Amino acid sequence: MKPSAAVGILLAMAGMTGTALAENINYGRNLAAACASCHGTNGKSIGNMNDLAGMPKNRIIENMKDFKAGTKPATVMQQLAKGYSDAQIAAIADYFSAQK
Ligand code: HEC
Repeated sequence: MKPSAAVGILLAMAGMTGTALAENINYGRNLAAACASCHGTNGKSIGNMNDLAGMPKNRIIENMKDFKAGTKPATVMQQLAKGYSDAQIAAIADYFSAQK
């Protein structure tokens, strides 16, 4: 393979990674929009609920897993959490933990 071809392939791969990352952030943001009605726009709560915005990623994931398993007492979150796959929860947690 000519060096120029190798560079071309590397550039193509770098481009793909960038797109995949951007898509993942949009994916998380779109999923997170479903949480905004109760947890506030971008996860900034208005009532006395904890902000999802800026909550550490692992804490969001742990909370959601506990809701799913039914081990964390909740009114609505147990049902809601069951509707999301682990991958979706991770994308949502990525999004909220990155918010200020
Ligand atoms: C219908 C309103 C509603 C929606 C929609 C909603 N939540 Fe909640 N959330 C709550 C309530 C109320 C609580 C407190 C626990 C309970 O009573 O269920 C809570 C608690 C939580 C907690 C625990 C916070 C803490 O510090 O204990 C997390 C994490 C959470 N929600 C994440 C989410 C995510 C992620 C979404 C979107 C997929 C979401 N919620 C959508 C109402 C909602």
